[in-house]
Amino acid sequence: MYDGEEQPGRNDACWCGSGRKYKKCHLDFDERLQGLYEQGFEVPERALLKSAADIEGIKRSAAINIGVLDHVAERIGPGVTTEEVDRWVHDYTVEHGGIPADLNYEGYPKSVCTSLNEVVCHGIPSEDDVLQEGDIVNVDCSTILDGYYSDSSRMFCIGAVSPERQRLVDETKKALEAGLAAVKPWGLLGDVGAAVKAHANACGFSVVREFGGHGIGLDFHEDPFVSHVSDPGTGMVLVPGLVFTIEPMVNAGKQEIDMSDPNGWTVRTADGSDTAQWEVQLVVTEDGYELLSW
Ligand code: MF3
Ligand code: CO
Repeated sequence: MYDGEEQPGRNDACWCGSGRKYKKCHLDFDERLQGLYEQGFEVPERALLKSAADIEGIKRSAAINIGVLDHVAERIGPGVTTEEVDRWVHDYTVEHGGIPADLNYEGYPKSVCTSLNEVVCHGIPSEDDVLQEGDIVNVDCSTILDGYYSDSSRMFCIGAVSPERQRLVDETKKALEAGLAAVKPWGLLGDVGAAVKAHANACGFSVVREFGGHGIGLDFHEDPFVSHVSDPGTGMVLVPGLVFTIEPMVNAGKQEIDMSDPNGWTVRTADGSDTAQWEVQLVVTEDGYELLSW
């Protein structure tokens, strides 16, 4: 079939684990996907499509991730160090039975990413980074619970920020929402990034190309890569059961990034301009999508 796997017999148990006969379960679904595959569309392999039980597991993980960010939101403000934010994230996650997915991920040293002002992503919490009135910071959290992954991030404005920074933060969220509005079951992933880019560019902002969203659920980063600068009418078919993030990084200045920090992680705008990011995790459903983590 479309993913190189064997098609079950009509009366066999369905591959999705529902316990129902294939013909009463995913047979029509597979035939629809097979048709798209034969027309040349990029279709997800079955292993990327989450079962109802997987979605429940991801939601339990996501409940911690949402709770962590709510916990941060209640405490963050002027005078807080990003090291403290890291401790809040770590302790809340562990106390709720989860594991911070960032910690030790490819050698990453902390439990969360804190990306301040001109930092695009992967800012490492530090005692030396004291949040000041006027700063904008992205806090990006990821949780593992019972092997299920969740991932989302929010922007926080520290005290009163300049109108320019406020606009960047607000319009980046709207760019993400424009992307969400383009998520249609059996639609195409490229339409999502195209909508994000169109909104950001209409505001006079640029969109980072090198980093994007990703499939997620049984692993931290799964296929597909979710570009936020894609062309409409391209990319993977948005099949119900596909779980992924949308997480645009929007720069006030030019799109180019600087990855030369010797710590190997921190990514900055090349021109030193401000940048913002919001991230949600969602599942494509039969009639739209459901947000899992924000
Ligand atoms: N949370 C990031 C994402 O949105 C990944 C961070 S990986 C880390 O995909 F190692 F930098 F923490
Ligand atoms: Co992510």
